[in-house]
Amino acid sequence: MIGPISYIGGKNRLAAEIISRIPEHVTYVEPFAGGAQVLFHKEPSKVEILNDLSHEIVNFFRICQSHHDELIRYLKYMIVGRNWFDQLYKADPSILTDIQKAARFLYLQKTAYAGLVARKNFALHVIQNPHFNADRIPHLIEKAHERLKRVQIESLPYEQVISKTDRATTFFYLDPPYWEKKLYHFNFTKDDFVAMEKRLRAIKGKFLLSINDVPEIRSLFRNFKIETVQLSYTAQKKVGVRFKELLISNY
Ligand SMILES: C[S@@+](CC[C@H](N)C(=O)[O-])C[C@H]1O[C@@H](n2cnc3c(N)ncnc32)[C@H](O)[C@@H]1O
Repeated sequence: MIGPISYIGGKNRLAAEIISRIPEHVTYVEPFAGGAQVLFHKEPSKVEILNDLSHEIVNFFRICQSHHDELIRYLKYMIVGRNWFDQLYKADPSILTDIQKAARFLYLQKTAYAGLVARKNFALHVIQNPHFNADRIPHLIEKAHERLKRVQIESLPYEQVISKTDRATTFFYLDPPYWEKKLYHFNFTKDDFVAMEKRLRAIKGKFLLSINDVPEIRSLFRNFKIETVQLSYTAQKKVGVRFKELLISNY
């Protein structure tokens, strides 16, 4: 299934490639969950953990788990329009309930250009229908609720989640922010990548990391297995640009 959130850097179109490479495991961990497209596309593992530093992500998944009927009620009468987008974008989240925050988050992600996170613009659709379709909301949220029922949700710096869950039987799917791109509220510096490579050399479990194909990453992760896959991003479709992405693993 496709996850409910549109999210820049989401792995919707790469999910099948990633899933085909997932080794046998007991515990599945996504330390950089975002919209968690790989988890939503794959079959459930015995134990599953999603983690993200973003409060909006974590709150959205928790509301899907425990208040999905209320979330549907909020979303099913919403319509796509610049005025609604602007009003919700400007709204102060601190005065909203958690259910309202989750509804706002999903609405803005689905109506913003390319699922942008850090700086959003309203996306006017001319040839295709908008991604937000109120008629599909009940089905979308109910399916997310079913899928997330037994998934544990954490909100820690990624290295803490790795430390807490690292076992020989753990599989980590790591999808950190891209090299030299500031798309999220939490991004990665060069030093963060250096620290991550060092951390991954010491783990007991298996990992697969997806990241943009740049020489610095190839050099830094040269001691692991590196494969190249190609995909096109929604934001770049108009100019027909295809990007190479690296899949780096320790198995
Ligand atoms: C590339 S996105 C993940 C996209 C996701 N795989 C999907 O399919 O939608 C990276 C995510 O990592 C989160 N993040 C950034 N730095 C982090 C950190 N130090 N610890 C945990 N999460 C972090 C961001 O909030 C963002 O949601």
